[in-house]
Amino acid sequence: MRPPLRVAVLVSGRGSNLQALIAAQRSGTLPIEIVVVASDKPAAEGLRHARDAGIATVALDAAGRRDRAAFDAELFAKIAAFAPDLVVLAGFMRVLDAAVLTPWTGRIINIHPSLLPKYPGLHTHRRALQAGDAVHGASVHFVTAELDGGPVLACSEIAIEAGDDDAALAARLLPREHALLCRCVQWIAQGRITWQDGQLQVDGEPLTTPLHV
Ligand code: GAR
Repeated sequence: MRPPLRVAVLVSGRGSNLQALIAAQRSGTLPIEIVVVASDKPAAEGLRHARDAGIATVALDAAGRRDRAAFDAELFAKIAAFAPDLVVLAGFMRVLDAAVLTPWTGRIINIHPSLLPKYPGLHTHRRALQAGDAVHGASVHFVTAELDGGPVLACSEIAIEAGDDDAALAARLLPREHALLCRCVQWIAQGRITWQDGQLQVDGEPLTTPLHV
């Protein structure tokens, strides 16, 4: 038996993806230990969910901090003190400094509300609607210095329906995000998905197109 994967979760807001991870861990389907939840926003609701669950928290206020690289280095030093095997960005709305990311290459993932490589950045639901897309979705990717640009390990798709607006699309996608993130973390915890030396592998085979959840 492998020991549970030590996971750090970073949030900037509501924290529903964090809640999904906590629930899956508690239900026994996710062999992880969430060792810390960290945020750049001390008022983030996600931090409250973590405290309620008895998880250690780190809150480092980004407001008024001009030196982005120094802030990121400080935040990641605090996270590193918990010795996580994996860092999960779950609604963490900050572009991280490249130098800070380097030591975490292959050990940090992000969930993004679009079918990457479409719509990196913000306002993904609106952009999918404006483009007239028939299909929308969410992706989980390994994080690199390129914004939302690292290798995608899995995605989840939903149909765009007549009458959808931003809010409707976001609401319908959210439960799919939760399932997608939990599944990806499960695969990593089971050692089934790895990213080493620039190569994404699933069950020891190169992954050429994202998995579908
Ligand atoms: C989620 O929809 C997540 O995909 C998105 O923020 C939301 C956070 O919700 N992330 C990004 O846009 C990252 N670029 P949550 O706080 O309830 O998990």
